[in-house]
Amino acid sequence: MRGRFIVFEGPEGSGKSTQANRLAARLAASGVPVRLTREPGGTAIGERVRAILLSEQSAEMRPETEALLYAAARAQHVAEVLRPGVENGEIVICDRFADSSIAYQAGGRGLPAAEVVGIQRLATGGLTPDLRILLDLPAEAGLARRFSADEGVNRLDRAETAFHQRVRDCYLGLAAAAQDDWVVIDAGRSPEEVAGDVDQAVDRLLEGWSGRPATNAAETGSGDVE
Ligand code: TYD
Repeated sequence: MRGRFIVFEGPEGSGKSTQANRLAARLAASGVPVRLTREPGGTAIGERVRAILLSEQSAEMRPETEALLYAAARAQHVAEVLRPGVENGEIVICDRFADSSIAYQAGGRGLPAAEVVGIQRLATGGLTPDLRILLDLPAEAGLARRFSADEGVNRLDRAETAFHQRVRDCYLGLAAAAQDDWVVIDAGRSPEEVAGDVDQAVDRLLEGWSGRPATNAAETGSGDVE
């Protein structure tokens, strides 16, 4: 039985990590096999690449280098974690995936979108999310949250506001162009309100899924799992 691949996307300070953690905990509590992971990172090699990407010492990094390093970490992540998880029947929840590269390296940095998309094909080997959740927020609001929070500020957070505006616009364009693949959620509200919308979208995705929570299967008496 194939699992499902759910990705959280969004600009800085949109609350992705909070929502991804919460969703993973909720699904796990209902008996669903869950794997929570993030990009860049999620593997030993990927975490080392992450350190290079986010270090304040990488200020002179070229946009092309940046795009290739994110893709390099992703290739390892797909092979070691994401694809095995989905093939193993798990609900794989990932904080950022290939659309982050389109939004940041093409939208934000200005690399040609077709080139960035081409690199993703190599990195993902064709693995695509079953659901993309865009936590949408104006750039200024997200940056204000990020800089006022205790969490660390990284190299990309320090990019100019216009960069983050381009990132957001790119995300909104991607979501508008493929509405069946995306759910856009207003992240400017309370975490509880955002979580309600996330749950609704995920429950809709999992409705027809045969690997339903063990508790539900027991209740309905249809405990067979493929
Ligand atoms: P992180 O601290 O995980 O930030 P966030 O909580 O916003 O996800 O740092 C990841 C940074 O890397 C973030 O600024 C977005 C950026 N990024 C890209 O530019 N391209 C990518 O493909 C990915 C996955 C992330």
